[in-house]
Amino acid sequence: MTGSLLSVEDLRVQFKVGPHLYRAVDGINFSVERGRTLGVVGESGCGKSVTSLAIMRLVPQPPGLYAGGRIMFDGSDLLSTPDRQMRKLRGGRIGMIFQEPMTSLNPVYTCGEQIVESLRIHSNLSAQKARARAIELLDLVRLPSPSKRVDDYPHQLSGGQRQRVMIALALANDPDLLIADEPTTALDVTIQAQILDLMRDLQERTGTAILLITHDLGVVAETCDDVVVMYAGGVVEQARTADLFADPQHPYTIGLMAAVPRIDVEADRLATIEGSVPAPWTQLPGCRFASRCPLADEKCRSEPPPLHEISKAHAVACWKAPIEKVLK
Ligand SMILES: Nc1ncnc2c1ncn2[C@@H]1O[C@H](COP(=O)(O)OP(=O)(O)OP(=O)(O)O)[C@@H](O)[C@H]1O
Ligand SMILES: [Mg+2]
Repeated sequence: MTGSLLSVEDLRVQFKVGPHLYRAVDGINFSVERGRTLGVVGESGCGKSVTSLAIMRLVPQPPGLYAGGRIMFDGSDLLSTPDRQMRKLRGGRIGMIFQEPMTSLNPVYTCGEQIVESLRIHSNLSAQKARARAIELLDLVRLPSPSKRVDDYPHQLSGGQRQRVMIALALANDPDLLIADEPTTALDVTIQAQILDLMRDLQERTGTAILLITHDLGVVAETCDDVVVMYAGGVVEQARTADLFADPQHPYTIGLMAAVPRIDVEADRLATIEGSVPAPWTQLPGCRFASRCPLADEKCRSEPPPLHEISKAHAVACWKAPIEKVLK
């Protein structure tokens, strides 16, 4: 089948907090192709988690509200899909992994019971077959002694093991799309590498498309085919991962890359991006990055730059793009 599996079109999500209206996600566009991994990066508060919650239609309402746009999944708009059907999609065709498995796994059921329940909601497997499949899944995510561990409660496992159970649960029903929001942030570096490895491996076997949300550019470089850079509720740059690293074009992306610690640069010379993100309730007339951008001029402060393609599959929301390499 051709076409994107998931396509987010001009999505807007707002939160009403006291007198303020937070524009947490303010008209973003991106798509995830079948069998590929799209990374979404950006600093804390830029709207990454709200985007993933919106795709699963889990934004709490109130205080949240879907203020516009469409989320097309395999041809239908998730924002107008009936609740009953959404519940079937979650854990079925759309799997989810979150940062902290302890909050997503139910502490009063064993790991096996949770996987079995998900399998039986989405298919008519017998209890016995579902248990066998749960063990198979735990083995697939490389949990040691799966036939024993299947009867463990989440608190009996380490953080890395719980994350493996979360992945098994997310993959139980062969999802077309896996949404992973900071799946490895709470884990130490070695376990993090193993989990990313596992996700890549599983993707090769199952062909699941992955939307990987992270604030870590290293994770993007290792795991993603394509990447979207978000800043203050908007997409500022979008490209194939290799192109983004070879030739970042948005001044924010360039700043992010410069801020990544490098072994060959002395610690006191690490770049940081000056200034801070504008308050989410302020509506600026121009580019959202203008107040921190070294290149910003009057036009940048008064007219919002549209996301436009500067080369094949490489789009930037910046009036100054393409920026010559010499300027970086
Ligand atoms: N339930 C909520 N009520 C009010 N505001 C919210 C709510 N959830 C998110 N927001 C606001 O939406 C904005 C985006 O938040 P989001 O959680 O998507 O950030 P993020 O990019 O995932 O950050 P992080 O890297 O810290 O996880 C923030 O300004 C946040 O305060
Ligand atoms: Mg988040």
